Amino acid sequence: MAEKAKIAVLISGRGSNMAALVYAAKSSDCPYEIVLVASNDPDAPGLSLAQAEGLTTFAHPHKGLSREAHDAIMHDALVQSGADYVVLAGYMRILSDGFVRKWADHMLNIHPSLLPKYKGLDTYQRAIDAGDRVAGCSVHLVTAELDDGPVLAQTEVAILPDDDADRLASRILIAEHQLYPATLAKYVTREADPDWILAQVRKRALALEETHERPSFGAPGWRVGSDTTGKYFAYFAQSHHGEASIALLVKTTGLDEQAALIDADPDLYYAPKFYGKSGWIAIRLDRGDTDWEHIAEHLYRSWCQVAPKRLSKMLEIADQF
Ligand code: GRF
Repeated sequence: MAEKAKIAVLISGRGSNMAALVYAAKSSDCPYEIVLVASNDPDAPGLSLAQAEGLTTFAHPHKGLSREAHDAIMHDALVQSGADYVVLAGYMRILSDGFVRKWADHMLNIHPSLLPKYKGLDTYQRAIDAGDRVAGCSVHLVTAELDDGPVLAQTEVAILPDDDADRLASRILIAEHQLYPATLAKYVTREADPDWILAQVRKRALALEETHERPSFGAPGWRVGSDTTGKYFAYFAQSHHGEASIALLVKTTGLDEQAALIDADPDLYYAPKFYGKSGWIAIRLDRGDTDWEHIAEHLYRSWCQVAPKRLSKMLEIADQF
């Protein structure tokens, strides 16, 4: 199994979601481990639970400190713990933009509503007052706006006719304890998920001018030019002709460049079956360390090889400036 992702959990209170994550992480096939439980409140009950479980804890009160200064102290503790991801679990602090930026795409939160409904506090009563039939919880990435980042997963929880906020909250909490560990596991292993990898390639291929997607022998492929005369500049290869890896196939300038690439990094590049003969190169995408800028560059260079003259000419002119 690949190395486990290192998780720091930030709490302010009882820490029941933190506990759910801690217990999930005890399973040997869990793809993450908890390296730190930290709080802005030294008396947060969740901290003693974490200590009893043998986890490293850290607390620093925010009183008397600017938001930035307190966030900087928390950030240092997170970095020191070696955390790859920050998981907010009832962390009752609004975060500074700088802190959010430092952990962009690496910080998750759980919120007790079906976002985008009911951001902020008092979510249960607001759902009941609105006459909603379902409430629920959401796990989302943290962005500068409160409770606003992309939603990764949600669980719906039915509202019963005699529910009050407390009863509803306690059922939503059960759902939270299921949703958070599962969503975190999926998120930290996304780079090995073929669907996620394909979406990354697709986004970059279709960002190039006059491109469209068309499958070729069952594999996704991208072409430049019109529907009738377009030419392929990339293929997504998953178990391509029996090869085990997930790879992107793009054109090089020819067999010399292909050989030079393989020579430079034989773990990353290989000559694909069939296409290899005409100078295509396969770039592995399943190693968990894909440099997506580099992939975008390969896509662009391959696109340049086959794009209609009028498109590549325009770029040559633009390049001179
Ligand atoms: C949960 O309801 C969570 O959705 C919200 O804060 C509460 C934290 O509870 N963000 P706990 O400390 O995890 O028990």
